[in-house]
Amino acid sequence: EPCGYLLAKAGIIADMSTGQFVSRCTADAMTSAAASIKEGHLVAFPTETVYGLGADASSADAVAKIYAAKGRPADHPLIVHISSIDGIGYWADEISEYAIALARTFWPGPMTLICKRSGEAEDFVTGGQDTVGLRVPDHVVALALLDAAKQIGVHGIAAPSANRFGHVSPTTADAVREELDQYLSPEDMILDGGPSQVGVESTIIDCTGNNPHILRPGAITQAMIEDATGLKVTDAVHEIRVSGSLENHYAPEATVVLDTTPQPGDGYIAMSDKPTPEGVIRLAAPQTAEEYARTLYSSLRDADSQKLSRICIDQPQGDGLAIAICDRLQRAARGR
Ligand code: TXA
Ligand code: MG
Repeated sequence: EPCGYLLAKAGIIADMSTGQFVSRCTADAMTSAAASIKEGHLVAFPTETVYGLGADASSADAVAKIYAAKGRPADHPLIVHISSIDGIGYWADEISEYAIALARTFWPGPMTLICKRSGEAEDFVTGGQDTVGLRVPDHVVALALLDAAKQIGVHGIAAPSANRFGHVSPTTADAVREELDQYLSPEDMILDGGPSQVGVESTIIDCTGNNPHILRPGAITQAMIEDATGLKVTDAVHEIRVSGSLENHYAPEATVVLDTTPQPGDGYIAMSDKPTPEGVIRLAAPQTAEEYARTLYSSLRDADSQKLSRICIDQPQGDGLAIAICDRLQRAARGR
């Protein structure tokens, strides 16, 4: 049963489920998950984009557990999740005016701002860079966890997507369990908040230059950024390491081929107006770019669980969310 997160929102306290997998995200469960973070354990939690694997962003030991569980190189920076815009000044310095405008407009939401780091953002969370990535996620369970953590002195929760390094990001708690179960310890937790509603990772915006610069496309689009800031988004080339920019990211086990006619036995993802050829396994038939993004990663996982060897995917058209989808598809097509 997916999380009763509306219960948590209403502050209704119900029974907490036992064990590592918390499917009833009640106020009690949030308090206990926050305490677990504070003690240095990992808590996987839902966000509107994808599930994150969280740890106390101020604790080197806790953050090291994230890298170990993901199998991720330690020089890759993590996003620090905060409960509200008020937390930005704790982690960042010399915050540009347009960064504040973006935060005011789109937080909580699927957007990560890269700002100059403060003394609080240490090398183990920034990958040794002089910047820090910050995000206020738009999910009631994530916000409840961040709030509860803040109340006991945890200023931010560092969290990458809750998948093994290079794999497809999880958009359900079950997908997190499949990815990470064997890498979590008994004190760690997975909070179930239902399926992520956006489905692709946040837009990452470098806010350290004169103009905003998109490092990873997402649901907050270039047009939205230009609208909110009154500034042009630049294409300046930056020497910033974004592991999500690695070519072989977001890849399922099956081979992904783009814009090719599927053959019998292939999996197939395309907009709903495309028919399914005889013998082809239709994995998704979204009607909109939003639905495409929301269902993409679970469709890729579905293909792997059916042990398909090839997935044919038609890229969506358009310049909103379609850009983020095509970005992930092209990486998936390069394979693991
Ligand atoms: O939607 C999301 O952003 C999800 C949810 C859980 O919030 N998180 C996520 O985290 O996708 P992750 O670690 O899988 O991808 C975050 C990307 C990485 O590619 C990382 O390199 C980049 O953000 N990043 C983090 N801090 C950075 C910084 N200071 N400078 C440049 N890139 C940074
Ligand atoms: Mg990731």
